[in-house]
Amino acid sequence: MKIQQNISLKPYNTFGIQTNAKRFVSINSLKELKEIIALEKNIFLLGGGSNILLTNDVEKLVIHINTKGIIVNDFGVDEVLVTAEAGENWHELVLWCVSQNYGGLENLALIPGNVGTSPIQNIGAYGIEIKDVFQQLEAIEISTGKTKIFTKAACKFGYRNSVFKNELKGKFIITNVTFKLTKKNHNINISYGAIKDLLTDKENPSIKEIADVVIAIRKSKLPDPKEIGNSGSFFKNPVIQVDLFNELTKKYPEIPYYEISENEIKIPAGWLIEQCGFKGKRFGDTGVHEKQALVLVNYNNASGKEVYALAQKIQQKVMETFKIALEIEVNVI
Ligand code: EPU
Repeated sequence: MKIQQNISLKPYNTFGIQTNAKRFVSINSLKELKEIIALEKNIFLLGGGSNILLTNDVEKLVIHINTKGIIVNDFGVDEVLVTAEAGENWHELVLWCVSQNYGGLENLALIPGNVGTSPIQNIGAYGIEIKDVFQQLEAIEISTGKTKIFTKAACKFGYRNSVFKNELKGKFIITNVTFKLTKKNHNINISYGAIKDLLTDKENPSIKEIADVVIAIRKSKLPDPKEIGNSGSFFKNPVIQVDLFNELTKKYPEIPYYEISENEIKIPAGWLIEQCGFKGKRFGDTGVHEKQALVLVNYNNASGKEVYALAQKIQQKVMETFKIALEIEVNVI
């Protein structure tokens, strides 16, 4: 374990933003992690770097969690518990589970990032969120160095949300996550229209076939961070009151929506941003992706401040046009 000075964070964030860490350490074991937090509390945790926008150099000690390992435990006849270390790459875990015929994660293929950060924002796609297959996680409390187990209830999962984004923000380091997956009689979810349309065996698809279709859909819509820097959806899909929705449908009868409750309607932020004319627009080295307006991109040399300025411009225009406040989903540092 070696603390390095002035390390570029460009390779460590999927936005590909150039900023520096004053001090940087890569952690390969729980023992190393405990040692380092015993010495230093002013830390900045870095997992897959897939949900951050770096707007400044990082003064705190950057701890890059690189712990690896997957453990499998049977859970009755039909189910299995899969525990993955925080530093495991998310997509590789999904592919591995699919190869073992463990069902539950297939809809979440190709989401960038690592296992350890997946519960923080309760990652989700195509009708599934990790809370649907989550069993528990282990985390170290930074102030005491003690390990604590969090059940699903303790994580307080919500839409792109959890206790780790709220009251426990910055207090714990997630070290491993356990998922409850199926060995047979998979509870597949093909409710998202485009998945069903692309399946050849629509009645009885395998989890491999679902994962392949999800990968194909994501590749067709979302930029690959290895080619164009991005952090997936930059904003959350806003939930609005039914009164505002009724007012908007008079002017925009084609507005797409999902009913959340009697009084609440979720509107795709991508649609709002597209209506405001931003889709595919480039501003210097940043811009709005041409196929998915919810994704802001870095063509190569954009600074975090430039991307953030574009985000604010979008928020302002969406507010003026629709009276809707777009909430940033990515962590702006
Ligand atoms: N739409 C547009 N223009 C656009 C993009 C979207 O009009 O440029 C409208 C279309 O009506 C489309 C609808 O928005 O039918 C929904 O679009 P899409 O299916 O692409 O999903 P999304 O709501 O934009 C959410 C997640 C994605 C996830 C997809 C699929 C959030 C913030 N984003 O996007 O998650 O992959 O659903 O389940 O909830 C991520 O969080 O990083 C992410 C990529």
